[in-house]
Amino acid sequence: MDNRPIGIFDSGIGGLTVMREIMEQLPYENLIYFGDTARIPYGSRSEQTIKKYSYQCASFLKSKNVKAIVIACNTASSIALDHLKNQFDIPVIGVIEPGARSAASVTKNGHIGVIGTTATINSSAYQERIMEFKHDAEVIGIPCPLFVPIVEEGWEYSNVAELTAEKYLAELIEHDIDALVLGCTHYPILRYTIKKVVGPYVKLVNPAFETAKDLKKILGEFSILNENFELPKYEYFVSDAPERFRRLGGNFLKKEIDILSEIAIDNL
Ligand code: DGL
Repeated sequence: MDNRPIGIFDSGIGGLTVMREIMEQLPYENLIYFGDTARIPYGSRSEQTIKKYSYQCASFLKSKNVKAIVIACNTASSIALDHLKNQFDIPVIGVIEPGARSAASVTKNGHIGVIGTTATINSSAYQERIMEFKHDAEVIGIPCPLFVPIVEEGWEYSNVAELTAEKYLAELIEHDIDALVLGCTHYPILRYTIKKVVGPYVKLVNPAFETAKDLKKILGEFSILNENFELPKYEYFVSDAPERFRRLGGNFLKKEIDILSEIAIDNL
């Protein structure tokens, strides 16, 4: 039994889709979210920079006495998970392995698509992980960088979203995929449009949901679940523009963002 909070970080607001799943699956856990809104996007940056930023985000959470850290960002998970696991003496969980495992298990024909930021797809983290779970899979990764600003504009149901999805996803449809990993925090919000484009027979895998499931299992294994069945406390920190975070965050979280503070990037 451990009532310390779980720390969750992302490059900005997108990780709230992961937080939302954690709130649903672990309703008694206290949570601290950090969004590095001053330095988003991570998805177009170099490995070295993503590792450095991720380490600073995790260190900030560690300073808040968290019992585990969830890297709620696909880009940071792809590049920095091993690095962070070596640096901290608490469980550090990324979104790649849970998403890859689920994709490998739901596919029937072995043709799996992965979409994400340029850094995530170029790292091949999902592609390699999926092949470990399913050796004969054919995995095709496509970077879809425009999806992030489309979601942040609130255009997820628009013609722009649909045309963009048609352009990005055409190659995956040609390869007859039957499973598609939504390998970026923002993509679950585009679920409806993506499904419309890829068709009803393609299963969409949401790593956020799978990560929350894994987190629950890991906390249980470490005997650090919070068994204090009271209303949990949710705290949010950002490195820039808190009011924008509060405004847009609601669409990701489906909940009001109450306790929100801005921290200076230099203090990270
Ligand atoms: N959160 C990032 C991810 O899941 C998307 C936004 C960014 O590029 O930082 O990959």
